[in-house]
Amino acid sequence: MEQLSGRTAVVTGGGNGIGLATGRRLAREGMRVVLADRDAEAVGAAEAELRGEGLEVTGVPADVSDPDANQRLADVAFETYGGVHVLHLNAGIGGTQPLLDPETKTWERVVGVNLLGVVWGIKAFVPRMVASGEEGLVIATSSGAGAEGTSYRSAPYAATKNAVVSVMEALYGELKDVGAAVRAAVLFPPLTESSMGNPRVEAWLRDNGVPTTLMQPADVAELLLDGIRNERFYIRIGEKQNEGLFDGALSAEYFAWNEGVIRGRAEAQLADTSPDGHLW
Ligand SMILES: NC(=O)c1ccc[n+]([C@@H]2O[C@H](COP(=O)([O-])OP(=O)(O)OC[C@H]3O[C@@H](n4cnc5c(N)ncnc54)[C@H](O)[C@@H]3O)[C@@H](O)[C@H]2O)c1
Repeated sequence: MEQLSGRTAVVTGGGNGIGLATGRRLAREGMRVVLADRDAEAVGAAEAELRGEGLEVTGVPADVSDPDANQRLADVAFETYGGVHVLHLNAGIGGTQPLLDPETKTWERVVGVNLLGVVWGIKAFVPRMVASGEEGLVIATSSGAGAEGTSYRSAPYAATKNAVVSVMEALYGELKDVGAAVRAAVLFPPLTESSMGNPRVEAWLRDNGVPTTLMQPADVAELLLDGIRNERFYIRIGEKQNEGLFDGALSAEYFAWNEGVIRGRAEAQLADTSPDGHLW
């Protein structure tokens, strides 16, 4: 999408971290931005902070796991700004729980936010975006766990982030079938410093011979903007983005590991072997 200025973006999970950073970045491009978050205090503070920078931002408290809250959010965005052009379905929570643990609430919570939050967001916004006939883009935030396959100690998180990739591939196909001016994309943030707190994963990778770098939310916003401008579907840091945008911040060992896991999973399925080689 070439023209952002004067158009409208909606970012869920916009009260903190990656959502707040992408909201800020898109607003700096001249977009009118609706930030939505279930944390009313955080989204109020985010709105005030960005307005203080002279940016056009509206904060809306909304829980994406509730279909009605998504409909109300879409109503606010369309009524306030007359249309939605970039929809970033980014709200997400962590979820680490052994499958052998009989408790069920963790799965319900994580599926409700990470997977159904994306589906309800699509249903609330995308038919209206398509009907407007205007150019648009829907991006959902997956994770390394969605690209690399099974992070088996975080099954609820990994399963939902894999599912988000499937949902966005399906949306891509459906939008093409109806000749929509709206496209779909999926964002794979690298390990990023946020309230999700990923120093633990970084340390684990380091201890296993994969030196990596904890990126900043503003870096992810830069990656997203690059993906929007270049009309990428799978918006992740490849070697090109690592050099072009981030001065080679991610190590060669990281790329080798990452590719090894992605390829290893596909090859294990094709060769009918076990997951031993790519489980992490
Ligand atoms: N930080 C990382 O290393 C990393 C890596 C890959 C993917 N991600 C993904 O990026 C997205 C943003 O994460 P972050 O790192 O900025 O975390 P964060 O915790 O800083 O921000 C997430 C925001 O989402 C909000 N949120 C949570 N549940 C919600 C709900 N039901 N409805 C509305 N808002 C809700 C939270 O209040 C919070 O403001 C998530 O989907 C996460 O899975 C993060």
